[in-house]
Amino acid sequence: MSQPSRCLKSLNSFALNANAQEIVTLSNLAELEQFAQQLPKQFYILGGGSNSLFINDYQGTVVCPDFKGINVANTEDAYLLEVASGENWHDLVHYCLANNMPGLENLALIPGNCGAAPIQNIGAYGIEFANVCDYVKWFDFATGKVEILSKGECDFDYRNSIFKGSLKNKGIVIAVGIKLNKQWQPLLNYAGLNELGSSPTPKQVFEQVVAIRQAKLPDPKHLPNAGSFFKNPVISQELFENIKLQYPKLISYPLTNGDVKLAAGWLIQECDLKGKTIGGAAVHKLQALVLVNIDNASGSDVVALAKFVQRTVFKKFGVNLEPEVRIIASSGEILLENI
Ligand code: EPU
Repeated sequence: MSQPSRCLKSLNSFALNANAQEIVTLSNLAELEQFAQQLPKQFYILGGGSNSLFINDYQGTVVCPDFKGINVANTEDAYLLEVASGENWHDLVHYCLANNMPGLENLALIPGNCGAAPIQNIGAYGIEFANVCDYVKWFDFATGKVEILSKGECDFDYRNSIFKGSLKNKGIVIAVGIKLNKQWQPLLNYAGLNELGSSPTPKQVFEQVVAIRQAKLPDPKHLPNAGSFFKNPVISQELFENIKLQYPKLISYPLTNGDVKLAAGWLIQECDLKGKTIGGAAVHKLQALVLVNIDNASGSDVVALAKFVQRTVFKKFGVNLEPEVRIIASSGEILLENI
């Protein structure tokens, strides 16, 4: 269960060099039950490590769920998958495509494990995990029982869910239930996908998503990063109109409640921050929403750069950018504004 190494560098896609007091891998229910009976005072649950930034040595236990297995059932109109939390997300997308169960191809190449998909409701190219979620299988530390949360109970929102709210640190996702309709419809709303014509095959959509991602987003294996560093901010219609008057090229997406979501990458780019570096951390040259580790960045380099980006965007547009990544300091998760 407990690993000899305490080094987190290879376990986080930003490749920050930090240690934990202890790293524990849980591969089955018996190990999880044993862990829950003696919960460490301080612990952090780490999935694929693609959204966690360890800015200091972590004074607690890092828990890595490593449950494996994919089960597929069939109804007349859908494929029902139960996927263990330690399965790699992109491998799942690939597996579904190879087995003629399309529906996940827009979510190709998202780094991380399946257990993390519901936590931050991963999303890309017009679809979110919530759109395919059937249920989440959850181990509750307090009761020691496995519970099934329906999609509705997960409170999914933009990069958010109950697992980041009231259930934070209360248990572990052990599997996700995914429902893929047999009547497959391509989702081609995203700009780069509508080039595919009206009736592409799932494989064509998959390949196009992979090509778009590879063109814009750095591969963490070659250039360590945690995907989008900030969320796309949501602002009021009033503030939106004020900004738009001054910056007519502002990229925005209207929401059904009247608010407006802005493209944070565009805001950062307009501040001329592409390529900006602090220490070993940089704003990616091709996608300004991604911060990258170009040269052994330290936690303080990343924090200083993130704060600089936040301040500069706020000064120019009056819009506050909130990190999408989770920042983990020595005593646990911390908000950027509190550092
Ligand atoms: N843009 C710029 N300059 C930039 C970056 C973006 O002008 O440097 C513009 C783009 O041209 C586009 C708009 O801003 O018109 C949006 O950019 P993009 O399509 O690249 O997507 P995003 O809003 O920056 C979000 C997700 C990504 C997801 C893409 C595609 C968030 C925080 N990020 O990024 O998810 O892959 O949409 O759907 O919502 C992630 O969460 O880690 C992630 C990579």
